[in-house]
Amino acid sequence: MIPSLSEEIEEYAERHTRVLSDLHPRLWKETHEKTASPRMMVGPLEGALLRLLVRLVAAKRILEIGMFTGYSALAMAEALPADGQLITCDVNPETTEIARRYFATSPYGHKIEIKLGPAIETLKSLKGPFDLCFIDADKQGYSAYYDLCIDLVRRGGLIVLDNMLQSGRVLHPTDQASRAIAGLNERIQRDERVENVLLPIRDGIMLAYRR
Ligand SMILES: C[S@@+](CC[C@H](N)C(=O)[O-])C[C@H]1O[C@@H](n2cnc3c(N)ncnc32)[C@H](O)[C@@H]1O
Repeated sequence: MIPSLSEEIEEYAERHTRVLSDLHPRLWKETHEKTASPRMMVGPLEGALLRLLVRLVAAKRILEIGMFTGYSALAMAEALPADGQLITCDVNPETTEIARRYFATSPYGHKIEIKLGPAIETLKSLKGPFDLCFIDADKQGYSAYYDLCIDLVRRGGLIVLDNMLQSGRVLHPTDQASRAIAGLNERIQRDERVENVLLPIRDGIMLAYRR
């Protein structure tokens, strides 16, 4: 595994990044106590980046693919205007229950709509335009999610894809997930419909600006 940032540097960056809501540390703790894969959460640094991106594109409508216990959804909802909307997809009813509880407590939770079921079906049923799409679900599905998001996001909007470095495995992909992500990185790089940058923050965040 090749860490994209040393732990010490990441902690320093976190200490110099505006904190998320009061609920986030509680959600972080409960997710660690009650779920098998708490590392799936984006964490404070990426959460703050997502929140800022929402502000920068003046997003009113967001689509999230991969909600888990709701950490990233809550971070983005914080920056939406009062009448903004975030639609988020997941297949796991247990982690969705945790997310629902936190959304019900949060002053931003009313902006979030959960779609429980395979994201591909949900995306096919949705009408655009969205201002920002955040892809953070099953890696095999990323390529299809990207194609659907290209049609759902408005021109001048943003597609954000997480885990695009696969802990460095994209350099020499051997497993299915890394091969899928490495292939998608190549495809995005050649895609004239977007202007892209792959940030080596955490596990790699691809920003694709829809031209
Ligand atoms: C990395 S986690 C998302 C983390 C979340 N963005 C956060 O920061 O807390 C990936 C999520 O994708 C969900 N998922 C996996 N396959 C899916 C599918 N086909 N459709 C929708 N969600 C899926 C999983 O249940 C899991 O909760």
